[in-house]
Order: sequence, then structure tokens, then C-alpha cells
Amino acid sequence: MQKIAVLTSGGDAPGMNFCVVAVAKTAEFYGMPLVGMIRGYNSVSHYDPLLLDAFVRNARDVAAEDPESLSLVDALETAVSGKLGGAFPDFKPLFTKYRAALCLAADAQEFCQLFPSFKKKMLELDIDTVLDIADLPGTYLRTARCPQFLDPVVRLRATVYMVAMGIEGLVVIGGDGSFNGAKSLCQLGMPCIGIPGTIDNDIKYSEMTLGYDTAVNVCVTAVRQIRATSRSHDRPHVVEVMGNRCGDIALRTAVATGAEIVIVPEVPWSIEEVAAKLQKEIGRGNTRATVVIAEGAYQQMKPFDMYNFLMQRGKECLPGETINASRLASILKRMCHILKEDGTEDVVEVRATVLGYTQRGESPTEYDAAFAFEAGHLAVSLLLKGEENKVIGLRKGRIFSMPIEKALKMQKKSQDYFNYDLYTLVNSL
Ligand code: F6P
Repeated sequence: MQKIAVLTSGGDAPGMNFCVVAVAKTAEFYGMPLVGMIRGYNSVSHYDPLLLDAFVRNARDVAAEDPESLSLVDALETAVSGKLGGAFPDFKPLFTKYRAALCLAADAQEFCQLFPSFKKKMLELDIDTVLDIADLPGTYLRTARCPQFLDPVVRLRATVYMVAMGIEGLVVIGGDGSFNGAKSLCQLGMPCIGIPGTIDNDIKYSEMTLGYDTAVNVCVTAVRQIRATSRSHDRPHVVEVMGNRCGDIALRTAVATGAEIVIVPEVPWSIEEVAAKLQKEIGRGNTRATVVIAEGAYQQMKPFDMYNFLMQRGKECLPGETINASRLASILKRMCHILKEDGTEDVVEVRATVLGYTQRGESPTEYDAAFAFEAGHLAVSLLLKGEENKVIGLRKGRIFSMPIEKALKMQKKSQDYFNYDLYTLVNSL
């Protein structure tokens, strides 16, 4: 294997940079040039007729004596123009057999000169540069979601671009959407290895995803700070954390901070139940009680007429407005109270904080950095051994790899992996 590439895709996650450095160090160790693809799959999702035309012309020359491959080149020309109705033929044999001869440039720099639409989309990764970014938050390679990659023609063109650049394997650091992209690229003839990079911990085949530990630690620090001030002012608090459709960040944060209530997408809930539990806490003097809610949990809330509830209590609300952390705090404030010694009721000020991007923009913890290091190294080693279509994960604390297909099947049974016992414990103690 001569040259490989790496990209980060989906939401950024702490440790992505560290992982790129591990890939770069391993590639250098084996003497392989490394290309960084900027903004994930977006780097190869545009239409470049100049390159496609040059590729097809070169492929015709390369396969001139090989009728079977020549007919594949004809089909490829029609397919990349988007005019091939029905399924594509299998182009993998063509790309595999003539991989070296199909490359159109010596390096990323020359490639971008020949095909300027790739400028700022591809760069040769220089180990000196990447070493400096190892523990920085964010992703040096930038990232983005790429809905156009769902189009098979776009994915085929992407494969052609990478083959034309001389790329023989790709490391994809991202979530399940990114893995679906990687699976398709493998089928088209670009060997890929996936590393689960997302704070959400929603990749079910792996005990942990890259960035999750850091995100939870950010949340724990924030909730501890919030609880200190909540205590000083006798104000319960609603803290919203990320996680997409997975409640792991919320649950782990609640466990590690002693938060009294946790609300997750995996379990339907009602405002009345939450208010009753909060009232119970306040009643026993716990005025810093904390509700940790996962961002994806609002969809699981049992029906509640927020508009009428708030309007009847003199609080402005727009018809059809959807609930969020500050609305939840506002409703809880109006459902709960502090009972004074003289038997009268006092208003309880419930406040809300949404932790948002603080969870993603942190340097990786030791745990995430170590996972990034091992995963980056393993990804390159697998490509070198000729393995493809695999993803890397953690099982019982040890790194392992498994086929992407199998991993993606496990995604569908996501409810099976939530820790309901721990959830019940937090909410009932
Ligand atoms: O997937 C990571 C994540 O942070 C989710 O937790 C969240 O739902 C989503 O990304 C937010 O995406 P964006 O940053 O594009 O708004």
C-alpha cells in the first residue's frame, strides 16, 4: 500500500486530532504518505468533469488490451455522468487491478494544481504540523455532515477522485452515518476502516466512542459548578446535555454528580412525574436538586399542554411552541414550591443551562487520547494487512475490530444497550 487518507466526519469529538496524529505517526512509521481530506466526505462530493474526463481517458489507455476492463470503463463513464439507469456494475475489479496506473498525480499538491476544484479540500499531512495539534480540541481536518453522500453517483465519483489521487485506503473517524459512507466506498473499491468518533456513545458495537469520556467529564465539571451555586441560592436546576438519541451522556453525568433526576430518550416521561420528584427533593431540604436532561428526550415526553399551562399562569408562550430546557425549568417553577416554616409557600426559582458545544470543544481526557492512539494505529495496520470494511471499537476495555456490516446491524437494536438499572437507581434513590 502506497498512500492512505484520513478524514473526520459528523459532529467533531474530542480526540479526533489525537487520532489523526496516531494515523500520521503509524503511516510515517511504515513509510506511507498520508492525505488529509478536509470537511469529511464533502472534500470529494463535488462534480469535477475535468478530472472525470481525464480519469476515463487514462483508464482507456491503461486497459487498452483488456476488453473486460474496457467495457467497465465505458460503464464508468456513463455512471459518473449520472446517466446510467439501474444498479452499477462492480467497478472494484477495475480499480483494484489497475490501481497504480489509474493514479493521475504524484502527490496532493500536484493533484490540486491539475484539478483546482480540490484546492483546500486535500492536503498532504506533514507529521511536524500534525504533532502540534495532537491534544487540541476540535478537528484540524474540519468536519461536516454530507447529505449528498447518500447519492450513489456522488459516492462513485468520490471513489474515482480518490483512486485518481493514488489513495489506496481510507480511515474514517466519525459516527454511524460516516460508517454507512465508508461501507459504500468499500463496496465501490476503496478500502476503508472506521473509528467511532462521536461524543454521543451511540455506536452500539463499542463500549465507548471517541470523545464520550471527555464530554461526560465536561458535563460533570459543569454540573458540579451549577450545583454549588444552586445550593447557595436554593435554586434547583435543569441541565441539558447532548447525545442525540442516546441518553448515555445524561445518565453518566447524573450518576457522577449525584443529580437527583435524569431524563433520557430511551424512557418515556411526564412533566408531572418530574415535578413530583423535584417537589419531594425540595420538601426534604434539597434545594439544589438537579434535573439532567438529554437533548433527545423531549420527543419522549408524554403529552402536556404547555401553551395553556403557561398562559394561565401569566407567562407568555406561542401556540405550537415546543419544549426546551428553559421552558421545562419555567414549568417546574410553577409546579413546585418551597414550604416555609410558617406553613406558607414560597416560589422556587428553577433555572436552566444548556451545555451545548462546551461538551465537544475540550481537549481529550487521558482515556479518549489513549483510545485515539490505539485506534489510529490499528486502523493503519489493518489497511496495511489488506483488511477493509471494518470498524474499530472497545470491548472489555480492549481494542478490537469487526466488519462494518455487523456493526451497523447492531445499531438497529439500540434500546438493548441502555443501562435501565442505573437509570432507575438514579431516579428512585
Ligand atoms: O453527534 C454529536 C452531536 O453533538 C449530537 O450530540 C448533537 O445532537 C449534534 O451533534 C448537534 O449537531 P450540530 O453541531 O450540527 O448542531
